[in-house]
Amino acid sequence: MDLFPSATVRSLEAKDVDAVVALDARIVGRRRDGYLRPKLAEALKDVGIRASLVVEHDGRPAGFLLAKVWYGEFGELDPVAVLDTIGVDPLLRSHGLATVMLDQLRMNLAALDIRTLRTEVSWRNPELLTFFHREGFVPAQRLCLEADPAAPEVRARREARLEAQGGDAVAAR
Ligand SMILES: CC(C)(COP(=O)(O)OP(=O)(O)OC[C@H]1O[C@@H](n2cnc3c(N)ncnc32)[C@H](O)[C@@H]1OP(=O)(O)O)[C@@H](O)C(=O)NCCC(=O)NCCS
Repeated sequence: MDLFPSATVRSLEAKDVDAVVALDARIVGRRRDGYLRPKLAEALKDVGIRASLVVEHDGRPAGFLLAKVWYGEFGELDPVAVLDTIGVDPLLRSHGLATVMLDQLRMNLAALDIRTLRTEVSWRNPELLTFFHREGFVPAQRLCLEADPAAPEVRARREARLEAQGGDAVAAR
């Protein structure tokens, strides 16, 4: 891999928002202003630890990562850093830009004595899975579960329960 020696990593700043939204559009193939701008605003808030980073190549943002630190989520006592998004300009890939961002994040977290960095990857994104595998990520000792709150079988079970409880309960639902 031919590394970019001039690449520099720094904290995400307000001036990066437009460039990051444009970068993301090149990565995912469509603009996601409504999704990304609130996330970026959140990442730039002055409260808490600002963990999000940008990597510059030739003086311009070439990649970014959005990360935050959670305290006491899901019953965990120790702080956990969550890597929400990572992306590198499709034209500038395989030159180590993602790795230098991740290295910087790892150093920043280690300095804060944060010992867990967590992320979620779509099963349908083998490129990202390969990247995280290479960077030493392994499946976490917890399962990520999801459900459709309006699933017909769940509704049917609820209705059956209400039926079993009698007419009053059914009338009140
Ligand atoms: C995954 C991604 C961040 C890697 O960025 P990058 O700057 O090219 O990564 P690096 O050059 O630091 O590569 C580090 C390692 O990751 C692996 N890797 C990177 N890109 C890869 C790819 N396309 N396929 C397989 N492995 C890959 C390589 O094994 C590389 O190891 P090497 O040093 O042995 O070559 C980049 O491909 C990307 O942005 N993908 C899209 C991510 C996405 O969908 N994000 C969500 C929306 S923003």
